Amino acid sequence: MYNLLKGKRGIIFGALDENSIAWKTAERVHAEGGTFVLTNAPIAMRMGKINELAEKTGAQIIPADATSIEDLENLVTKAQEILGGKLDFILHSIGMSINVRKKRHYTDQNYDFTHKGWDVSAVSFHKVMQTLYKQDAMNEWGSIVALTYMAAQRSFPDYNDMADNKAYLESIARSFGYFFGTEKKVRVNTISQSPTPTTAGSGVKGFDGFIAYAEKMSPLGNATAQDCADYTVSLFSDLTRRVTMQNLFHDGGFSNVGVSNAVMEKFMEE
Ligand SMILES: NC(=O)c1ccc[n+]([C@@H]2O[C@H](COP(=O)([O-])OP(=O)(O)OC[C@H]3O[C@@H](n4cnc5c(N)ncnc54)[C@H](O)[C@@H]3O)[C@@H](O)[C@H]2O)c1
Repeated sequence: MYNLLKGKRGIIFGALDENSIAWKTAERVHAEGGTFVLTNAPIAMRMGKINELAEKTGAQIIPADATSIEDLENLVTKAQEILGGKLDFILHSIGMSINVRKKRHYTDQNYDFTHKGWDVSAVSFHKVMQTLYKQDAMNEWGSIVALTYMAAQRSFPDYNDMADNKAYLESIARSFGYFFGTEKKVRVNTISQSPTPTTAGSGVKGFDGFIAYAEKMSPLGNATAQDCADYTVSLFSDLTRRVTMQNLFHDGGFSNVGVSNAVMEKFMEE
């Protein structure tokens, strides 16, 4: 390891189990010398294994529903107390669609579900940043990252309303990135990650086909959760200080491929 995050403090949202992108990121940040508070929704605390991760990484856990301003204010205040100062990095690794979970087709949405999913998956990113901004909780040259998926730009029929949530999330990164950049010298980016076998990922209908197709389309193959952790560390480090307001594809090249020979071969099979 390279000590890329030595002396840096942060908050990591969304580690549910060892498959979670946030889990791998927490391990990697720890290995690079960063210290952090772990957080997740109170319900996920009961279902997940976050205590295991906290022990491993010497982190404290502060439960917070990312849609609750009260919870977020408490989290940001306490995190600074625990870590001993302002924050340098934030990972928003949160997504949830009740329409997906309840198998409601995109053309047959329950709008209460739609609204809740939008709040959890997209608006929560604004809420997190607004809380940090109002408390002036970020150090200059800090870095805020959220995770997204390419269904924000191209249609993936089974991604359902999460596609719209991701488009909104990416827009928030640009809009808030402007203010965080000019006022506080803090960068804000989204990483558009390959399909990844996690609890949230596998909940998407047809996920197995989806991930196998992406693997065959991508010149470098799908980016794993571990790869994503590595990339996130680079964005938290001082080596990427002037990267901001970007949606960064981390997908083995998938997003720029029209068709691959590997996929063509499948269609040429008799
Ligand atoms: N898995 C994939 O294929 C894939 C691909 C691209 C992007 N992403 C994105 O990566 C991020 C992390 O997902 P993951 O794949 O690691 O799955 P995951 O299921 O491990 O993580 C999702 C997390 O969101 C948390 N969460 C849900 N509601 C919450 C709330 N109200 N408050 C706080 N936290 C809440 C869950 O408890 C869980 O820890 C998500 O934004 C997801 O959309 C995933």
